Amino acid sequence: LASSVKLNTGAYKPVINLGTWKSQPGQVEHAVEYALKSAGYKGIDTAAAYENEKEVGQGIAASGVPREELFITTKLANSDHGNVEQALEASLKALNTPYLDLWLMHWPAPMTAGEEGPDKSKDWLDTWKEMERVYKAHPDKLKAIGVSNFSVPYLERLLKEATVVPAVNQIELHPSCHQPEIRELCAEKGIVVTSYSPLGSDNSPLLKNETVKKIAEKHSVHPANILISLQANLPNTTVLPKSVTNERIKSNAQVVSLSEEEIKELLTSSDPPFRACNPEWTGWGHLGFPDRVKAAAEDG
Ligand code: A2P
Repeated sequence: LASSVKLNTGAYKPVINLGTWKSQPGQVEHAVEYALKSAGYKGIDTAAAYENEKEVGQGIAASGVPREELFITTKLANSDHGNVEQALEASLKALNTPYLDLWLMHWPAPMTAGEEGPDKSKDWLDTWKEMERVYKAHPDKLKAIGVSNFSVPYLERLLKEATVVPAVNQIELHPSCHQPEIRELCAEKGIVVTSYSPLGSDNSPLLKNETVKKIAEKHSVHPANILISLQANLPNTTVLPKSVTNERIKSNAQVVSLSEEEIKELLTSSDPPFRACNPEWTGWGHLGFPDRVKAAAEDG
């Protein structure tokens, strides 16, 4: 299995990246340092909205790993759609880095300050155009731009007007949220998919899924390794396991090679669909995601 995937910019993104959504202050610096120094990670994913960029930057510095060996992703917050260039500067400063390997629009959902509600005076497509402008004006600060939480209709609207094809679309992906339509469109357009919440996030039923457990036993690994490996075995895909626990951080980086049959079995295992992150939290509705997933989210 490859350890990195080529982006449409020509750069390579590591397949395994440490996720930091919900990583608490006081824990995330150590998690990042440990992942880079002791567990072989080269990629770190954060976001302005996680309010942990500064600590992530401290963890990167403490690891002592040279900047050019790393792949750092962060994201434009929903409250910064009207504030693109300043938001980039703020993230660079917080992370204490001269450049980002990848900067994503976090959601196609402009929100008011504090993310208290939708800001209907703004159109996310204008934000993308401004991200394109900043990317072209500052190649020294931005190596690639991309999107996150883009469903098929939103991606189609963007591609119709974009002058820069997003390098990545980062979406929730695990056996109970498979989203094959988005994967297909991204493959067709040369957009790398990054899977977030590959374990199904906190207290996930996926770790107890019988199919996952059976395949884990066969490979003599923890069920978490199978869920992470599933994403790592899919073409054109990178993955973001999140943990703040040393042993898990180390173990999660061990990817196993799965057979076609095992992949198929995992993708059709019978757990009801669910989302760790329901797009409706933004106040912009279901953002074009399929109704069946939306319904599952509403059912909790
Ligand atoms: P923690 O950070 O306390 O170690 P996801 O990557 O899908 O967002 O899932 C993250 C959740 O899964 C967190 O609650 C994390 O806990 C937990 N987790 C991460 N790695 C493992 C693992 N190897 N085994 C069990 N739970 C894990």
